[in-house]
Amino acid sequence: MATGSFPATRFRRTKSSDALRRLVRENTLSVDDLIWPIFIREGENDETPIPSMPGVARLTLDRAVRAAEEAAELGIPAICLFPYIDTSLKTETCEEAWSPDNLSNRVTRAIKDAVPEIAVMTDVALDPYNINGHDGIVRDGIILNDESVEALVKMTVAQADAGSNIIGPSDMMDGRIGAMRAALEAAGHTNVCILSYAAKYASAFYGPFRDAVGASGLLKGDKKTYQMDPGNAEEALRLVERDLKEGADMIMVKPGMPYLDICRAVSDRFGAPITAYQVSGEYAMITGAAERGWIDGDKAMMESLLAFKRAGCDAILTYFAPDVARALKG
Ligand code: PBG
Repeated sequence: MATGSFPATRFRRTKSSDALRRLVRENTLSVDDLIWPIFIREGENDETPIPSMPGVARLTLDRAVRAAEEAAELGIPAICLFPYIDTSLKTETCEEAWSPDNLSNRVTRAIKDAVPEIAVMTDVALDPYNINGHDGIVRDGIILNDESVEALVKMTVAQADAGSNIIGPSDMMDGRIGAMRAALEAAGHTNVCILSYAAKYASAFYGPFRDAVGASGLLKGDKKTYQMDPGNAEEALRLVERDLKEGADMIMVKPGMPYLDICRAVSDRFGAPITAYQVSGEYAMITGAAERGWIDGDKAMMESLLAFKRAGCDAILTYFAPDVARALKG
């Protein structure tokens, strides 16, 4: 890479007008990059705002369908569902997670009926259904791996049966991708994608999400025996390699902004489709500061998302998705 010396080279020349800046821009954000996560709840024609996520609410089924229609109108390719499950349905064994008629599966069917062209992504982890608030089955304080995988596989097939296009295992149990892929093939769901949360860190940035799905109060202890240690980078690459070998179609890095180095490393090493999850805490920091007038929220939103493109990501799961889509439309 040869760079001349001054004044033959003046970097300010290509910065001197909007036209030139646009010509030399290396990365851009597009509506095609977006996955919109929404929270869903029981009820009709209603929503419950989530205080720690300004502008985000839990939506009833009919409003979730409306959101999917809005996403399609805006050109957003995919919507991702996170259910808020009534405490009375949470158990130690989590069987509501694979009930064909649970909230998530009912909303998936309703969205696929109303807006078939939108891709529906569903979350595979037991935390919304678990009386312990953990992503796996807990016995005597231990999060059991293999029993959890069995439960997660049943959940996966139920979601695919309901019409989910993208299965998002966010649970971090070992061996689940291979087991899910085999079960999907056996059930004839050959075109259902797995977007594996391969590099998911035990992060403080999930706080507002746990409020949103009603898991905060229930969670005993932390998730450090299954989610990644924030000090590790090499392990992320080993996890990604493993999940791709087991049949993942796409890879998630999560959280997003504090782990841009991982996005870049995965992109360089594997070239497989990568999604970054701009998580609830990242969203809360930007919207919270903007509400106080401390930063320009719209500009910070766009800059934070462009960072993922620069780091090599193909897609971004972000609560800002409809705002971004509108901003990109101008
Ligand atoms: C758990 C799950 C979490 C998120 C998505 N799925 C939280 C956790 O691991 O405790 C967090 C997403 C966000 O913070 O926006 N299955």
